[in-house]
Amino acid sequence: NLPGNVTIIEVGPRDGLQNEKGFIPTEVKKQFIGALRDAGIWEMELTSFVSPKWVPQMADAAEIVSGSPEGLLRSIVLAPNKKGIERVQETSCKAVAVFVGVSNTFNKKNINKTTAESMDELRPLIGELKAKGYFVRACISTAWHCPYEGKISEEDTLRLCSDFAESGVDELSVADTIGMAVPTEAYSLFAKLKACLPEILLTAHFHDTRKLALANILASMQAGIDRFDSSAGGLGGCPFAPGATGNVATEDVVYMLERMGIETGISLEKLMGAVELVRPHVSRSIESMYYKMHIGA
Ligand code: HMG
Ligand code: MG
Repeated sequence: NLPGNVTIIEVGPRDGLQNEKGFIPTEVKKQFIGALRDAGIWEMELTSFVSPKWVPQMADAAEIVSGSPEGLLRSIVLAPNKKGIERVQETSCKAVAVFVGVSNTFNKKNINKTTAESMDELRPLIGELKAKGYFVRACISTAWHCPYEGKISEEDTLRLCSDFAESGVDELSVADTIGMAVPTEAYSLFAKLKACLPEILLTAHFHDTRKLALANILASMQAGIDRFDSSAGGLGGCPFAPGATGNVATEDVVYMLERMGIETGISLEKLMGAVELVRPHVSRSIESMYYKMHIGA
């Protein structure tokens, strides 16, 4: 009982670029976002309203939002705290992603608070955003494994997800931050989340560090998931998670799903055009299998 179609949430402009040391011109980022939209992406993480001292690449967040293309169903921006959420509200953006790690150590390294401190700050802010009509997504980092604490207990992840659900978020994006989950772990967690949180949009966010992301996507679909975060070109990683390489490449996901008869609505040809736009500006080579097979090494 696999889904007939799947929604891809493109995270390339945010997760894909946040780790790049050299500043990528704002105009290039806007062109990348526009080309992704033209390739058939409907939901996209555009940028983050984080501290420019922590993540200089995202310093142009407000400009990115003001230049974002028409026609996206959801233009999502990340915000880690009150200040970030205030900055978002000065823009036209109507979808906010907050992010918290199950692991305290990771959360401290990433946003300088424990998991509980972050939740205490975010709970009332999520309520305010919902009252104002915002779409709120919560990204759950280190849902299976942490680069600092090792294996994370499923109970802890389920508890944090339930906490967010109670606070009123619309969507949970459950993330394998360092690409260590295996399909049995992916299936187990998502089957439980589906059963205990039936009202919420559930999305899987896999990194392909150990080349297990496609297997994890298949296992997640078997558990009833039909929304996946991915990044064009397989770019990305979190600057505060050592060993976090790229997100699963959107083109590899689209290739697999379309060959399985599962519709994504995304044009691989146009997607490759988007990757070619940004490729000269990133420090890493494009490692996705689809790119290597069809475009060049
Ligand atoms: P802090 O240093 O504890 O912040 O950092 P603070 O509250 O003490 O403030 C210090 C200064 O930062 C002040 O400015 C604040 O105004 C400013 P100053 O008075 O020194 O001039 N500040 C801000 N400026 C702009 N925007 C803000 C903001 N907040 C404070 N929102 C903070 C705490 C959360 C700010 C910092 O740790 C931070 O920005 N972290 C972001 C880290 C990040 O972006 N990580 C990557 C995204 S998460 C990810 O990739 C995982 C994901 O993909 C899922 C997965 O794969 O796991 C989502
Ligand atoms: Mg990520």
